[in-house]
Amino acid sequence: MTPPDASADLGARVDAAVTAALAAIETTATTADLQAAKAAHNGQGSELSALNASLRDLAPEDRKAAGQTIGAGRARVAEALAERQAQLVAVEEAAQLEAERVDVTALPRLRAAGGRHPLSMLVDEMSDVFVGMGWEVAEGPELEHEWFNFDALNVDPDHPARGESDTFYVAPADRHMVLRTQTSPVQMRSMLTRDLPIYIVAPGRVYRTDDIDATHLPVFTQIEGLAVDKGITMANLRGTLEHLARIMFGDEAKIRLRPNYFPFTEPSAEMDVWHPGMRGGPRWVEWGGCGMVNPNVLRAAGIDPEVYSGFAFGMGVERTLQFRYQLDDMRDMIEGDVRFTEQFGMVI
Ligand code: PHE
Repeated sequence: MTPPDASADLGARVDAAVTAALAAIETTATTADLQAAKAAHNGQGSELSALNASLRDLAPEDRKAAGQTIGAGRARVAEALAERQAQLVAVEEAAQLEAERVDVTALPRLRAAGGRHPLSMLVDEMSDVFVGMGWEVAEGPELEHEWFNFDALNVDPDHPARGESDTFYVAPADRHMVLRTQTSPVQMRSMLTRDLPIYIVAPGRVYRTDDIDATHLPVFTQIEGLAVDKGITMANLRGTLEHLARIMFGDEAKIRLRPNYFPFTEPSAEMDVWHPGMRGGPRWVEWGGCGMVNPNVLRAAGIDPEVYSGFAFGMGVERTLQFRYQLDDMRDMIEGDVRFTEQFGMVI
């Protein structure tokens, strides 16, 4: 059955198959290519596999030599496959490492965290001055009942400040709700809910129908103070305000009280602060209102004015910020531009 030149023919066929396999292996560019080349040239159905299978058709005495020829060819192909596999794996690993390279020396991309608003920081700083003296921080609602904002503070029903040209009334009118025009309603709220003696500061937003300009905002911040105890005098008020003034404006700061009128204090005073660091030289600047708590107000809160007395004060936080940093225009405080905020340092 076997043709006479079978072994010569086999040798040539093995050589041809091996040459084709080596050429295919050499041109592979990826390990996936190589898998395909391996299947085509060494796997089932390949020429070499077919030649191997044909061994069983040979005469037994020819099989050994033929088997060695084919085996040698397959070994060469296997060797080439292994060699190429090693090369391609190395190339692919290098490419992957390059693609996943991380520069551990690179600077991190900084994300701006934003800053606290200087007004919030100042409210905290002013409150802290009082907390440091044992006072407490009190709060009241911004949407306030007319009674707390005006009546309880002894403000006459016909007082001009109660008019709609000054105060935001909130519908419906029969609910008598206003956006508080001052933090003073927290005085009455504190007297009604706290035990004596009372030492509180109440910072917060207040609302007035003012037009916005460099020195007015329709929404601004006040900080209220109230002390009710036995034997409180005007000297305590003055000393307390002067302490705050020095911390806000420096050791040479001092307080001047000018007679004034507020329905809820008697006597009442306008307070000026001597600002030593004012641009253009030190001078008095108007800072807020204050006075001794009116006995009528104490009585309305159920406190006996024969036994207790008190002082109260209130000042604008925006004005304080403005004087402290020589800011020309309050509008900068409400625009939310981080370039303004950043100048006061970031406290997160
Ligand atoms: N509430 C007053 C105002 O807004 C200030 C003030 C507070 C006056 C406390 C006296 C006592 O003008």
